[in-house]
Amino acid sequence: MKRIPVLIDCDPGVDDAAALLLANQIPELDIQAVTTVAGNVEVEQTTVNAQKIRSLINGTFPIYRGAEKPMVRTLVTAPEFHGADGLGGVFLEMPQESMPTEKAWDAIYRIAKAYDGELTLITLGPLTNIGIALAKYRELPALLKRIVMMGGAAVGGNVTPAAEFNIYVDPEAADMVFCCGVPVVMCGLDVTMQAYLTPEETEEIGALGSPQARIFREIFQDSMKKCLAWGRKGVALHDPAAVLYAAYPDLFTAEKAGVRVETKGMLTVGKTVTDLYSDQKFEERNAFVLTDVDRAQFLKTIRMILARYGNQSDAAFG
Ligand code: BDR
Ligand code: CA
Repeated sequence: MKRIPVLIDCDPGVDDAAALLLANQIPELDIQAVTTVAGNVEVEQTTVNAQKIRSLINGTFPIYRGAEKPMVRTLVTAPEFHGADGLGGVFLEMPQESMPTEKAWDAIYRIAKAYDGELTLITLGPLTNIGIALAKYRELPALLKRIVMMGGAAVGGNVTPAAEFNIYVDPEAADMVFCCGVPVVMCGLDVTMQAYLTPEETEEIGALGSPQARIFREIFQDSMKKCLAWGRKGVALHDPAAVLYAAYPDLFTAEKAGVRVETKGMLTVGKTVTDLYSDQKFEERNAFVLTDVDRAQFLKTIRMILARYGNQSDAAFG
């Protein structure tokens, strides 16, 4: 099997943690590194959380710390959803290990250069590290295969009526990414809100038996309660959706479109403006917007991946 070299930029974050748990057991993905950024919580904490998750999954990838604040704005975080610790209050051992001193954006460039056009970036948080890398290394776009981004929405928002959190936190960086010339897959709310997990499905996963599957269940307990109180059927697997797209694009429907980010609006800062549903088109169709997911297959795939932690056979899941 030809494995896809990926670098995952993230801000764990309960669903980022879930995404890392999954990515580590997807044989199609070859994780070269994880980089951390401020987003759901401060970067010190997203980095600690990435280290804790790596230890839980016996991951061998290096972790590089990134930006502590957006390129030009004040940081906005989301502890009310992810918990003050960013992991929904779930206790995980803190491994005693030293961190590399190389910064996230330098690692992104170095690894992209080593793979010379083959590296896929999967971004699960605000786009600050990528924005800084693009500003510092002008040749970076030519060195990347594509960017699979959890962020944005063709319709609506979650942090404001117009904007999704990852784009809202650093809209200037996000717009740099959409304009950089690398094909961007926008795995936004249009599709991630369809990729939800009900309480029953979460229990089924918890019952798979491994510590990793149990933690997958536990990290969503608090956010699940909030989602149910809001009248939803379950918790959206935003970041896992982007990771699964990188390995299994056939689970999703994608449409080519032009996308830019609003950086100046009074009510619309952070909106991903797409021409998908518009008669007027942008000059460039720079993105693939995910619009649909086969939810049943998506969940089946997630169960199958997580079962690997317990060495259960994939065949048991048909
Ligand atoms: C995105 O925002 C964060 O809170 C989640 O981790 C996800 O990446 C969803 O809007
Ligand atoms: Ca995230």
